[in-house]
Amino acid sequence: MTTRQRRGLVIIGLVLTPFIVGLLLTFEFIKIPFPTNMAEQPSAGYQEALRKLPPEGAVPVQGLSIIPEEFPANPVPADEISLQRGAILYEIHCQVCHGTQGHGDGPLVSYFDRTPQNLTAAQIIGEFDGSVYLTIVQGFGQMPSLAENLTQRERWDVINYVRTLPPR
Ligand code: HEC
Repeated sequence: MTTRQRRGLVIIGLVLTPFIVGLLLTFEFIKIPFPTNMAEQPSAGYQEALRKLPPEGAVPVQGLSIIPEEFPANPVPADEISLQRGAILYEIHCQVCHGTQGHGDGPLVSYFDRTPQNLTAAQIIGEFDGSVYLTIVQGFGQMPSLAENLTQRERWDVINYVRTLPPR
């Protein structure tokens, strides 16, 4: 072997060695136990323990995450003020789909397979106010949740107003 060949081998070795060591580390043939706080924190594995309840008084951002045992009761009396507010809010938030009189003939209606033909139908009127409240908060089928559009008080105002729409 000439000096040149030997020098060539040494250079190739110098280049290849870090590369191979890198591969060994990458594919964990040589394992270095790095500290990982993610894996070592106390945590409950899948189906190991009950999920933690949210802290008392926490407000869910996506509406009610649990189905309440009882429908919420309507705390807002259907007085003149409530109905007036309800009428305005209905015009803004419901009319586009449900129509001015709640007859399911708003301008957006063709985009849905089904809007109730009639918000004044016996079935809707027969529902508890609380059930309509949940429909507004959580959405229902193709109807989106309107929880972010209406405050609690406003939802009840709308419900009071819907109750006064003339039945068809
Ligand atoms: C983006 C369109 C849209 C808007 C806005 C909308 N709805 Fe609806 N709503 C629907 C559709 C679609 C359905 C039928 C859903 C289904 O049956 O799959 C529906 C269903 C309902 C139902 C019947 C639910 C049931 O239990 O059968 C009620 C009550 C209702 N809406 C009330 C309201 C009120 C009150 C508002 C305004 C605060 C409102 N909706 C706004 C589209 C809308």
